[in-house]
Amino acid sequence: MIIRPFTKSYGGAPVLDFPGASLPEGEVCAVIGANGSGKSTLARIVAGAMASDQGRPVLEQAGPVGYLPQRPYPFQMTVEGNLLLNAPGGRADARRRAAELMEQLEIAHLARKKAHHLSGGETARMALARLLMRRYALLILDEPTAAMDIRSTSLTEALVDRYRRETGCAVLWITHSLKQAQRTADTVLFLLRGRLAEAGPMTRLLSAPTTPELRQFLDFYGA
Ligand SMILES: Nc1ncnc2c1ncn2[C@@H]1O[C@H](COP(=O)(O)OP(=O)(O)OP(=O)(O)O)[C@@H](O)[C@H]1O
Ligand SMILES: [Mg+2]
Repeated sequence: MIIRPFTKSYGGAPVLDFPGASLPEGEVCAVIGANGSGKSTLARIVAGAMASDQGRPVLEQAGPVGYLPQRPYPFQMTVEGNLLLNAPGGRADARRRAAELMEQLEIAHLARKKAHHLSGGETARMALARLLMRRYALLILDEPTAAMDIRSTSLTEALVDRYRRETGCAVLWITHSLKQAQRTADTVLFLLRGRLAEAGPMTRLLSAPTTPELRQFLDFYGA
């Protein structure tokens, strides 16, 4: 899947100048960068949740896109109800799929609980399970594990990996954790103050960053 070049300004102030990128099917691309570097803006625009300055869709030959926002919202109903709201196909199939996902993220015991009463980490797992009720060609995850403990983070990484292998989708995974990028990603986009400072295979970027900014970032985050 190809992301075309685009720019984004908020109220006349430019925040992102993106030169485009390719997201191969079945691969995970991590987006890293400091707070305010434009990661969520990139995610929102690629997901089609917000328009770029150019106004046209930035994805070429897009299939269905799944998008987990940085701050996902629960609908005011049960956890299971939230999942079933995003259910394609028959009700029995959907219930089976929902049960499987809640099991894998260890929220099955919360199925009948009101989603807006969940804790932060529980809400994050509910939102991911709700999203993965469907199949996508591209899955965009904006810091899905930021509110999660180590165990939930590990369950999430395993589930996304399984989903990717089963569906062959491309994954755009925004993360603050370099360790997580190392565990999950094939390629990396490094954003620096609204520009793509560096891009390439994970292993190359970590072992031989070409920009001083990425070198500094890696030192700071302990990669
Ligand atoms: N709706 C908005 N209106 C005005 N400015 C915005 C808006 N959304 C984001 N910005 C600004 O654009 C820049 C990029 O924001 P963005 O949310 O994309 O950063 P980020 O890399 O996701 O940061 P974080 O790591 O904190 O999530 C920031 O300077 C932010 O203040
Ligand atoms: Mg963000």
